[in-house]
Amino acid sequence: MPLPPDLIADLHLSDLAAEPQWPSALVAGAAHYADAPLRAMPSPIDGALLGHYAPATAGLVNHAVEAAHGAYLKWRSVPAPLRGELVRCIGNKIRQRKAALAQLITLETGKIVAEAEGEVQECIDICDFALGLSRQLHGLTMASERPQHRMMEQWLPLGAVGVITAFNFPMAVWSWNAMLALVCGDAVVWKPSEKTPLCAIALQRVVEESVDELSERVPAHICQLILGEQAAGERMAAHPLLPLLSATGSTRMGRSVAQQVAARLGRSLLELGGNNAAIVTPSADLELALRAIVFAAAGTAGQRCTSLRRLIVHDSVIDTVCARLTQAFDSLPVGDPRVEGTLVGPLIDADSYWAMQQALQAAEQQGAVRLSGGGRLEDGVPAGGHYVRPALLRVRGNLPVVREETFAPILYVMPYSELLDAIDLNNGVSQGLSSAIFTDSLREAEAFIGPAGSDCGIVNLNIGTSGAEIGAAFGGEKDSGGGREAGSDAWKNYMRRVSNTINYGDSLPLAQGIRFGQG
Ligand code: UN1
Repeated sequence: MPLPPDLIADLHLSDLAAEPQWPSALVAGAAHYADAPLRAMPSPIDGALLGHYAPATAGLVNHAVEAAHGAYLKWRSVPAPLRGELVRCIGNKIRQRKAALAQLITLETGKIVAEAEGEVQECIDICDFALGLSRQLHGLTMASERPQHRMMEQWLPLGAVGVITAFNFPMAVWSWNAMLALVCGDAVVWKPSEKTPLCAIALQRVVEESVDELSERVPAHICQLILGEQAAGERMAAHPLLPLLSATGSTRMGRSVAQQVAARLGRSLLELGGNNAAIVTPSADLELALRAIVFAAAGTAGQRCTSLRRLIVHDSVIDTVCARLTQAFDSLPVGDPRVEGTLVGPLIDADSYWAMQQALQAAEQQGAVRLSGGGRLEDGVPAGGHYVRPALLRVRGNLPVVREETFAPILYVMPYSELLDAIDLNNGVSQGLSSAIFTDSLREAEAFIGPAGSDCGIVNLNIGTSGAEIGAAFGGEKDSGGGREAGSDAWKNYMRRVSNTINYGDSLPLAQGIRFGQG
């Protein structure tokens, strides 16, 4: 199944689709085709081929970085509000193509239509946010101890920024990084997941058209796209002309990227795995909590870094919660993500299916009791995809397998009797991305969101662990990487801070009252 012709037209990709294979890179305004073995592009929906491409080689990465750096040298002097116009133009085009872009996300990731549209909306939202930000990249002024002196700080553009993204949010995470980087005066080199090249090509086309329309003010080649594998990512991590590398993916990948970037004293911004928990207290509004739990655990087939993986439930309500969740999991509509009413689409691929089966087997060996799901569905779903029923297991605590992030819909439910123990369970894993508490008690809520509470970067009250808006900073602690992207002041990652001391007098007093020779 190549892409539907209407979709190709709606995404303005007719020229590229007419070629026998998809490009390996869109660099310096041209499509490049690497001399490397072809990689198939199966849709997770039914395994049908969306095409082939040859992964980009290290030479293409160098070309992309050099082109981006050249564009940055011009872009950094364009006033930030004018840089915002590029982001406005990109945002408008994404708005116009929302349905088509969402359709492509569904085809390439297996995400249900409502969630795919939500992801495109997230791109639109960050464009709006970045546009506003383009007039607010402010620094501070400080009182100087010296007469007729003033101190201030400025935030200045950083350079070309490398962005590595994962398959599960093939558009939104790029937009968080790229739209902020653009208004901050940076150029962008993007390496998406090798599993979602088409989503990236479609967005790169949006950017290319926007750059062309504003060519009087915007340097060509401000954004480059590399469709590569691990070697391309490693080349980016090592490249001295990428002062910042923002990477989203597994903790294993992040650890290796961080070490390579640190070796050249570059900056990295990491958004890695999560192992997110929610606590259900005796006072929780159960109807609300159950709805939030099912969306967070089973939505996106458990393939968000914010997906709910552990549920910590008070002894007094755990039997009710387990019974209600079993009922809900048993009846979740799993199937073709293009069909209205489906809530759980396929896993991304066979590896992901087998990783899930291995985790379930290990969990049962370690004493978990399966309450629902986990098996493969073959009836009533498209053949060739990996469809599973979301799994619900009851466990005693953070078993070894529970400490690992399995990127699939598995929810482990465990009991607690004292809130402090529940907080210890929440914090008792190496990851620290997202967490939530369901309670109507002010004391419990504050205990969880305060300094001795959850150790995660995202700590929610009476909503689930996933589905964050772009307005707050997004990211986690510990093995989740420590980075913060999207809203709040995450833009500061993409700029360099410069401290200025200005002497507008005619003498030269030294700081700290130092006297040095005459004067
Ligand atoms: C991710 O899974 O990498 O909060 C990002 C959420 C989404 C982003 C998830 N807004 O679930």
